[in-house]
Amino acid sequence: MENFTYFTPTKVVFGKGTESEIGRLVKEQGCRKVLVHYGGGSAERSGLLGRIYRSLKEEGIDFISLGGVVPNPRLSLVYQGISLCRREGVDFILAVGGGSVIDSAKAIGYGIVNKGDVWDFYARKRKAEGCLPIGAVLTISAAGSEMSDSSVITNEEGWLKRGYSSDFSRPRFAVMDPELTMTLPAYQTASGCVDIMMHTMERYFNQSGSMELTDGISEHLIRTVMRNAKILMEEPENYDARAEVMWAGSLSHNGLTGCGTDGGDWACHQLEHELGGMFDVAHGAGLAAVWGSWARYVMDARPDRFAQFAVQVMGEEPGKDDRETAMKGITAMEAFYRAVGMPASIKELGVDLTDGQARELAEKCSFSGTRTIGCVKKLGQEEMYQIYRMAGGL
Ligand code: NZQ
Ligand code: ZN
Repeated sequence: MENFTYFTPTKVVFGKGTESEIGRLVKEQGCRKVLVHYGGGSAERSGLLGRIYRSLKEEGIDFISLGGVVPNPRLSLVYQGISLCRREGVDFILAVGGGSVIDSAKAIGYGIVNKGDVWDFYARKRKAEGCLPIGAVLTISAAGSEMSDSSVITNEEGWLKRGYSSDFSRPRFAVMDPELTMTLPAYQTASGCVDIMMHTMERYFNQSGSMELTDGISEHLIRTVMRNAKILMEEPENYDARAEVMWAGSLSHNGLTGCGTDGGDWACHQLEHELGGMFDVAHGAGLAAVWGSWARYVMDARPDRFAQFAVQVMGEEPGKDDRETAMKGITAMEAFYRAVGMPASIKELGVDLTDGQARELAEKCSFSGTRTIGCVKKLGQEEMYQIYRMAGGL
C-alpha cells in the first residue's frame, strides 16, 4: 500500500428537504456577501432557487446572483463572475447545480483571491495560493465536484478544456438532497452514473500492489452505481436509488477510492476532456465512448487487474487465462453502457470522427507532444491518436 493523505474538509448535509438549511449553513461561514451561482434554468424552473433565496433572506444574508453556466463551463463567464464579485465585495460563493456550476464557482473563487489571469492555473503556468470559500447545493450526481479538489473549465479561445486541482477549492459544505435529482433527463442521469463509476475506475486501474480495503470499497461502489442506474432508467423517482447514486458520486471523487494507490490512470478523463472541448458532449457519455477502446489498448499491461475487475465488478466467470477474463469484463462493461443508453464508441456518441479530428484531439491531449497520460500504460501522442481512431471506428 502506498502512503497517502486523505483530506475531506467538506461538511455533507444529506437527505430530503436539506436545502432548507442553506441559510444557516451560509451564516456559519461568517461571510458578508454571497454570490449565488447557477446554470441554465433547471434550478429556476424547479423552484429550488426561490427556496434558497428565501432561506438566505430569513438569515439576513446579503446576496447577488449570476446564472448562465453551461455544461463544459466557459472561461468568459468566469471572468464576468470575477469582475462582478470584486465590484460587489463578494466573499462566499454558493454554487447551485452540478459539476459545471461548482467548477465555475471554484474558478471565480481562484480569480478573486489570486492576482493575474485565472487561466494561468488551468494552463499549468503557476499555482493558486487560495480560493474564495465555496458551498454547493447539488442538483445532479455526477462530477463529484461537491467534495473534490478539482475544477474543469473550457477556454473558448481554441476550445481547450483544462482542469486544475488544489485543496483550496474543496467546498466548505455540500447540501445533497437526492429528490432534487429526480427532474434530470434519463441521459443526464446515465451520463452522471458513468462519470461516478469512472472516478473510481480511473483510480482502480493503476500500477500499485495490494489494497484489499480500497479495492473492496471501489468494487462495491461501482456495482452499487450500476445496479441503481438500471433502476433509475425504469423508475426515475426512486428515492433510494437516487440517494445511493448521489452518495456514491461524492465518495467516488473525494479521494476515498484512491487511498493507498499510486493515484490511478486517468487517461480516459484526459482523452474525454478534449472531446468535451471540441464537440461539447456530456462528460460521462464521452467517457463511456472512449473507455472500451482505451481498455483494449492498455489491457496487456495489467491483464491481472482487468481480470479482477471482470470477476469482482462485472460478475464474470474466469476464462482460461487473465487475458480472456479481462476481455469478458470489457465487453460486459460496454453492454452495461448501452443498457443505460450510453455510447460505447465515439460514433454512438453522435460524432462522425475524421482522421484529421483524431489527430487534432491527440495533438491537444498531448499538449503538442509534450506530455504522456495514463499509468497502466503510458500514452504519448501517437497512442492517443490510435485510441481516438479505435473509438471513432476508423
Ligand atoms: O444548466 P441547467 O439548466 O441546470 O441544466 C443542467 C445541465 O444541462 C442539467 N441539470 C442539472 N441538474 C438538474 C438538471 N436538469 C434537470 N434537473 C436537475 N436537477 O444537467 C446538465 C448537466 O449539468 P452539469 O453540471 O454540466 O453536469 P455534471 O455534474 O456532469 O458536470 C460536468 C462537468 O464537470 C466536469 C466535467 O468535465 C464537466 O465539465 N468534471 C468536474 C470534476 C470535478 N470538478 O471534480 C471531475 C469530473 O471528472 C469532470 O471532469
Ligand atoms: Zn469525470
